[in-house]
Amino acid sequence: MDRGNDAVKGLSLQQIKKVYQDNVVVESIDLELAEGQFLCLLGPSGSGKTTLLRMIAGLVQPDGGRMLLDGKDIVSVPANKRNFGMVFQQYALFPHMTVWDNVAYGLKARGEKPAVIKEKVEKYLKLVDLGHLAKRKPKALSGGQQQRVSLARALAVEPVLMLFDEPLSNLDARLKELMLKEIRELHRTLGFTAVFVTHDQNEALYLADKIAVLNKGHIEQFGSPEEIIIRPATPFVADFFGYTNRLEGAQLSEKGRAQIGPVAVPVGHVASGGKPGDRGVVLMRPNAVQVAEDSVSGDTAEATVVDSRYYGGVTEYRLKLEGYPSDDISAVVPRLVQPLPAEGAKVRVRFIPDSIAFFQE
Ligand SMILES: Nc1ncnc2c1ncn2[C@@H]1O[C@H](COP(=O)(O)OP(=O)(O)OP(=O)(O)O)[C@@H](O)[C@H]1O
Ligand SMILES: [Mg+2]
Repeated sequence: MDRGNDAVKGLSLQQIKKVYQDNVVVESIDLELAEGQFLCLLGPSGSGKTTLLRMIAGLVQPDGGRMLLDGKDIVSVPANKRNFGMVFQQYALFPHMTVWDNVAYGLKARGEKPAVIKEKVEKYLKLVDLGHLAKRKPKALSGGQQQRVSLARALAVEPVLMLFDEPLSNLDARLKELMLKEIRELHRTLGFTAVFVTHDQNEALYLADKIAVLNKGHIEQFGSPEEIIIRPATPFVADFFGYTNRLEGAQLSEKGRAQIGPVAVPVGHVASGGKPGDRGVVLMRPNAVQVAEDSVSGDTAEATVVDSRYYGGVTEYRLKLEGYPSDDISAVVPRLVQPLPAEGAKVRVRFIPDSIAFFQE
């Protein structure tokens, strides 16, 4: 690839659109990704993630818009000429070939010299820690190992862009975590540009330099993981990032507080346009609600325990806020509380403004 010009390096999507029958599945998407950055496309099922990724890959033709890589149009370049690496949910390995031959495949197809093929295959098998299994066939490998082979196969051609479509969703929780670490490490070492599709906010937060949150074919918010998790632009984004406590009927007061019935809540993030006096909804992550041991100062409220249990190394409470008629809220204490508080027990809760957001109606 010509790196000599001074065009912006990286991927640029301009007004990219896809329509199936009358169904607009990707709606005028604009997106800039600098060379070497890791982008996660995050959104619920049917939001258009795969369609957008397949358009970038050249497997689906857009119905409008421009796509540039390093300033050059790629829409007219056939998929097999784009030199992109792809890793999918299904490992899509050639079953009759050994691991070694699977990884060598793209290099052979490109007509590389045997010495180059040998060097690259060995390098990338070693990077994904599979050197010792080079002679195996895919069916003699675990799911995680097969996914590492497809990763090595995609990386071996040293693509200008790596594309991933939910590559970890068939793996169990422990393997998923291992692969997340591995992909992040490979990205740090090799510095490739990547677009990674997932519906899992934790994967996106772990891997991404930039996250695009998709909703019904449009980008609801684009930003760094920090920006998005601390300042979600819309209730949809907040909900997606675990702001699961919803307190309706809030009114924004002065000094970054919201009043909900008798309860005053400090608000860390007021969505754009919100001003004192506005009515709306407060969304908060369970970790913004602390269960106080004894008398504490700050923004506290009385609550009654509805349920409590140990879950994922933390203690999770369902609580009913005193004087607030609607739904329960969740609180998370980052340790195992013993004994678990019984149903009906009275506690005080304290609100931590991080992870509490206000959206006006
Ligand atoms: N070839 C097609 N023909 C008609 N509709 C399609 C086609 N491919 C996708 N769609 C529709 O486009 C929308 C977006 O699909 P897409 O596969 O991009 O979603 P996704 O975000 O990847 O979802 P998931 O998380 O379930 O994989 C869906 O409503 C889907 O039914
Ligand atoms: Mg998909």
